[in-house]
Amino acid sequence: MTESNEQSVKGDILLVDDTPANLRLLSRMLSEQGYKVRSVISGSMALTAVNAARPDLILLDINMPGMSGYEVCRQLKADDHTRQSPVIFISALDEPVDKVKAFNVGGVDYITKPFHIEEVLARVETQLALHRQRQELQERYEEIQRLQIQLVEQEKMAALGALVAGISHEINTPIGIGVMAASLLEEETRHFVALYDEDQMKRSDLSRFLQTAAESSAILLGNLNRAAELVQSFKQVAVDQSSEERRVFQLDSYLGDALIHLSPELKRGNHTVEIQGETGVTIESYPGVWAQIVTNLVMNSLMHAYEPEQAGRLIIDLRRENGRLLFQYRDDGRGIPAENLGKIFDPFFTTRRGQGGSGLGLHIIYNLVTQKLGGVIRCESAEGRGTTFYLDVPSPNPRRNEE
Ligand SMILES: Nc1ncnc2c1ncn2[C@@H]1O[C@H](COP(=O)(O)OP(=O)(O)OP(=O)(O)O)[C@@H](O)[C@H]1O
Ligand SMILES: [Mg+2]
Repeated sequence: MTESNEQSVKGDILLVDDTPANLRLLSRMLSEQGYKVRSVISGSMALTAVNAARPDLILLDINMPGMSGYEVCRQLKADDHTRQSPVIFISALDEPVDKVKAFNVGGVDYITKPFHIEEVLARVETQLALHRQRQELQERYEEIQRLQIQLVEQEKMAALGALVAGISHEINTPIGIGVMAASLLEEETRHFVALYDEDQMKRSDLSRFLQTAAESSAILLGNLNRAAELVQSFKQVAVDQSSEERRVFQLDSYLGDALIHLSPELKRGNHTVEIQGETGVTIESYPGVWAQIVTNLVMNSLMHAYEPEQAGRLIIDLRRENGRLLFQYRDDGRGIPAENLGKIFDPFFTTRRGQGGSGLGLHIIYNLVTQKLGGVIRCESAEGRGTTFYLDVPSPNPRRNEE
């Protein structure tokens, strides 16, 4: 038989039947329709044929000596390489129980013998069309998955690059000042040693040196501490995916506890925190992550949102909906100007540089929400209108092994 384009487009069909007359009839009929047909007369030959070249469709007899059609199908479906080829059973067995069994072992259709040629053709065409659609979908899906992985990688690399640049920049300042202080101290020490060696030291030299030594070491200590603090916060930016256990807990009461740590700061400014929405929201998640998110949000409100004498009203709102947890946090402070709103989640974006801000708080929250919790976060704010953060994270019903 010559291989034509049309044949390869119409499909490659494997016929399995131990009755040669059946095989001849089906084979002729399908070949006439332009299908490429291979015929075998036993189950084991069928398995060999499928392994040699995967057909687009298999027409499979059930009652055969040796291996039955059911067994052939079961083995095909159990193997990743052969599972894709759809199987239509074609059999004289006519009881519902036979058909049910055929579907149970993985068949996609069932034709009863004696068959009508039109019926066989119609069913073959339908199954081939479905098979092609499934394959196309599978290919699209794989393509999308590949693209997604690529995008995530690119974004990660870009974020990493920005982070490394930021880290160098941030650490450079305290280290640079430290180096200056240390070299000043070294120079003064050398001078001091020379005076001592030449026996020319005056009382004023001693007091000058002692003052320099005290000042330099204070500067050194302060700046090395600042560098150490920075390194500590950078460590938090790289969200450790495994550091902390996941468990079932009640989010509203847990957050209430977490906020107790902040109560001195809150009291000092007469600020209030309310937890609203559903009560007793039980989720399976990482409690420490939630504590850190809320702590950073509240710290930001206290640091950025209010005038020194202004008492703020901070509100947390919790709701579960369709397997998702909707978490809202808002303050009624000064808000974030439009030109900054797009930058607040960037690492090192801060309006408090030099006053204790590293610009990492919201970046850490962003990483925790998107990476660790698999959710999304966005911020709405306008100058003079307060700030609201919306978190939306997947939260399927927890296994109730704890309340
Ligand atoms: N509740 C808020 N109200 C007004 N501005 C805010 C609020 N939260 C954040 N911002 C703005 O977003 C910026 C980035 O916040 P982020 O928490 O990332 O850094 P930071 O607070 O400045 O420093 P860090 O958190 O590292 O100490 C802040 O500098 C501030 O300008
Ligand atoms: Mg902050």
